[in-house]
Amino acid sequence: MWGGRFAEGPAAIMREINASIPFDKALWRQDIAASKAHVDMLSAQGIVSADDAALIAGGLDRIAAEYEASGVPEDWDLEDIHMTTESRLAELIGPAAGRLHTARSRNDQVATDFKLWVREAMQSAEAGLRALQVALVTRAGEHAASIMPGFTHLQTAQPVTLGHHLMAYYEMAARDRSRFVDAYARAGQSPLGAAALAGTGFPIDRHRTAAALGFDAPTRNSIDSVSDRDFALDYLMAAAQTALHLSRLAEEFIIWASQPFGFVTLPDSLSTGSSIMPQKKNPDAAELVRGHAGRIVGCLTALMITMKGLPLAYSKDMQDDKPPVFEAASLLTLSLAAMTGMVEGATFRTERMRAAAELGYATATDLADWLVRQANIPFREAHHITGTAVRLAESKGLALDQLSLEELRAIDSRIDERVFAALSVEASVAARASYGGTAPDQVRARVAEARIALGLE
Ligand code: ARG
Repeated sequence: MWGGRFAEGPAAIMREINASIPFDKALWRQDIAASKAHVDMLSAQGIVSADDAALIAGGLDRIAAEYEASGVPEDWDLEDIHMTTESRLAELIGPAAGRLHTARSRNDQVATDFKLWVREAMQSAEAGLRALQVALVTRAGEHAASIMPGFTHLQTAQPVTLGHHLMAYYEMAARDRSRFVDAYARAGQSPLGAAALAGTGFPIDRHRTAAALGFDAPTRNSIDSVSDRDFALDYLMAAAQTALHLSRLAEEFIIWASQPFGFVTLPDSLSTGSSIMPQKKNPDAAELVRGHAGRIVGCLTALMITMKGLPLAYSKDMQDDKPPVFEAASLLTLSLAAMTGMVEGATFRTERMRAAAELGYATATDLADWLVRQANIPFREAHHITGTAVRLAESKGLALDQLSLEELRAIDSRIDERVFAALSVEASVAARASYGGTAPDQVRARVAEARIALGLE
């Protein structure tokens, strides 16, 4: 394609380091679509004859059918998907193929193809997150009143409901979705027609190609158009944030599935056995989601570092933009599917969760709150009284509500028998009915809103 300038062909090492076809062949659909939009515009503007345009469009359709049927051939001499397709077009239709590249460069071509690909990936991530939300909201609805220990520092803190805990992940997924939606809107301008970096002298219509490719408008600055990879970074940032959330959810399942916890039985379909220990059922899918989060963050870091020192406009470093995005996208798709399946298929062992909530003095705050409300004791003093009661119960190996009234009154005489009603885990969660709190009614209300937001009602 640029042979005219060079006396010798490229050294083998140059061909190999230069070739992006092994990975950018994934852009073939976008490349064909962008070429078709481009040639249609060239013809409408009278830059290419209608006959040549029809020949080119027909050839591109044939190439698409070939790629679909037998894959994209990998010839390193042709470097990338753009030259691979153009060279095949020349084989198929002859010299008219040479008119396709009028008023464009591979710089605006690759920016356009990649942006189209990334926009689709944003939509697919958003759809995957929605599926996860549906699973979460469904299980949360089933378990709006199932009691489990809530943790801070992974120490039993206060009883919560399982539905409330699951809905915390629904909220994270909602923020992740909004990040992909924002990123998609921000990636709404078409670089096509920026040409190498300066625009073109041909009377092209960039609005027409932008609309044909589903963009909102053309980009406004040709130099920025060919050197911008913010859309890919936006995708990776949203993907990394999503992966962190999925990793935290995976970690919960891993802990909950361990025998000392025994809060959940993971679906067999997302677990594996051990070759030596017959009793084992390992949470491998969850562990791999946790592991993949590290790789996805690595992909974000890789592209950030690739871009950080580049002067305007295009530099070949930017060819390295694609592998991290492709890798992150396939890892994210898998991770979302795995966690959705895990939420859908998990068997929650609610009796174990409830029993665990009884341990660890999870209702100590309820005793303190009762002292404030019923005996008008300042919270700090109530906190101290409660601490004394917990210490006594601990020394006797008893739960708080197993202390006798006499024992409690010996600590503070303002305590009376009504306190016992406040010390059960059911009373504890029911009392936390502040907006967004863990009370079953609050969880049901949030679940109902979420089901409407998801279009399930
Ligand atoms: N294979 C290149 C890439 O993926 C296409 C753009 C090449 N542009 C250039 N001026 N060499 O970035």
